Formats: sequence, structure tokens, C-alpha cells
Amino acid sequence: MNAISLETPRLRLRPWQESDQEAFAAMNADPEVMLHFPAPLNRTESGGLMDRFVNHFETHGWGRWAVEERETGKLLGFCGLATVPFQTTFTPAVEIGWRFAREYWGKGYAFEAAQAALRDGFERLHLPEIVSFTVPANVRSYRLMQRLGMQPGNNFEHPKLAVCHPLREHVLYRITRSQFEKDWADQVH
Ligand SMILES: CC(C)(COP(=O)(O)OP(=O)(O)OC[C@H]1O[C@@H](n2cnc3c(N)ncnc32)[C@H](O)[C@@H]1OP(=O)(O)O)[C@@H](O)C(=O)NCCC(=O)NCCS
Repeated sequence: MNAISLETPRLRLRPWQESDQEAFAAMNADPEVMLHFPAPLNRTESGGLMDRFVNHFETHGWGRWAVEERETGKLLGFCGLATVPFQTTFTPAVEIGWRFAREYWGKGYAFEAAQAALRDGFERLHLPEIVSFTVPANVRSYRLMQRLGMQPGNNFEHPKLAVCHPLREHVLYRITRSQFEKDWADQVH
């Protein structure tokens, strides 16, 4: 299935291409970017992650896009939707996720990309709800969830991490289609 692209004032959310591998691997190998994950990724693991993104698009027709800066064509990171790949209290569910290279934080790029991805998820894909989650220490990520109008849900324990793993506890945020449409209407009027 062909993946569509989205454009925002500064960004293009587009399908992955082979030439993204190098910048994607550099971002995934950066310890600061990967601080709230079990470990940075080596090149093979980074390639495997990109393959999973591509497979998700092929299976569902939507997924995590490559995000490039329109002005320069540079790869900034990824943003988009994915089915939650484990079972817990709020699944089945669709999750919005993001990761940007360190030099592109603090510019509102993740917010701009995530707003477009949420809008696509609700308006084109007609999803009833989109969730997002992270560890409590990842303040930048959950502040972004809050700025997007997502509401806090119950904390949960990530079932793929061992019971005593320091990253096991997660905060959950969620937004329904009707909440998003109301927020959007309030912004426009
Ligand atoms: C999570 C992550 C994407 C957040 O990136 P971010 O740049 O902080 O998020 P935003 O795009 O919302 O940008 C907000 C910042 O840009 C600033 N900004 C500048 N211009 C802006 C604009 N035009 N619009 C909005 N914000 C703007 C805001 O003031 C804010 O600054 P602050 O961080 O000093 O408060 C980023 O930290 C990241 O990639 N982290 C590593 C990966 C990760 O942990 N992913 C999440 C896993 S669950």
C-alpha cells in the first residue's frame, strides 16, 4: 500500500527512503536522544527499526513517517502512528510516537509534526482514540502530549520490560476524536 505524505508549514512527513539510513542511525546512536530507552541503537538495530516502520506502512497503510525539513530536505527524525505491540489495560490501541535528532529539539518541530499526524489519524483514518506513553522522567515527551491536548490516563507497567526494570513504569496520555475535533474547532474560531 502506498504511504501518503503530509506537509506542514516547515515539515514534510513522508515515506522512508534508503538514503535516510545514515541520519536515522546517527540519531538512534545518540545517548541523549535515547536516554529514556533501554539503550542507544547500533546500526543494525537502527536498520531493523526502519524496516519495522516500512512493514507497518505496508500492513496498515499508515505508520511512523520520516520527518524532513522542507527548506533543506534534511531528515529531522520520525513521527506518526503505530499499533501498540503489546497487551495491557488500554489495548488494542493506536499510539502516536516521535523521536528527533538533538539539534532539532526546542523548535516546535515535534509539535508541528504530531499535530499533523493526529489530524490525519482522526480525519482520514477515523480512529476513535490515539494514545501516547513514556517514562515519568521523559518530561519533554509528556509536555508535548499535554500541548497536543492529550489527557492523562492511569500509569501502567510496560509488559515488555522486566518487573524490576527502572523504565517499567509509564505515564499514559490519550485523546479521543471528539476531543481533538473540539480543540481544533476552538483554535480555528
Ligand atoms: C520528545 C521530543 C520529540 C520533544 O521535542 P521538543 O523539541 O522538546 O518538542 P516540541 O516540538 O514540542 O518543541 C517544544 C519547544 O520548542 C519551543 N519552540 C520554538 N519554536 C516553536 C514553535 N514555532 N512552536 C512551538 N514550540 C516552539 C518551545 O518553546 C519549546 O521549548 P522548550 O523545550 O524550551 O520548552 C524530543 O525531546 C526527542 O526526540 N526526545 C528523544 C526521543 C524520545 O524520548 N521520544 C519519546 C519517547 S516516548
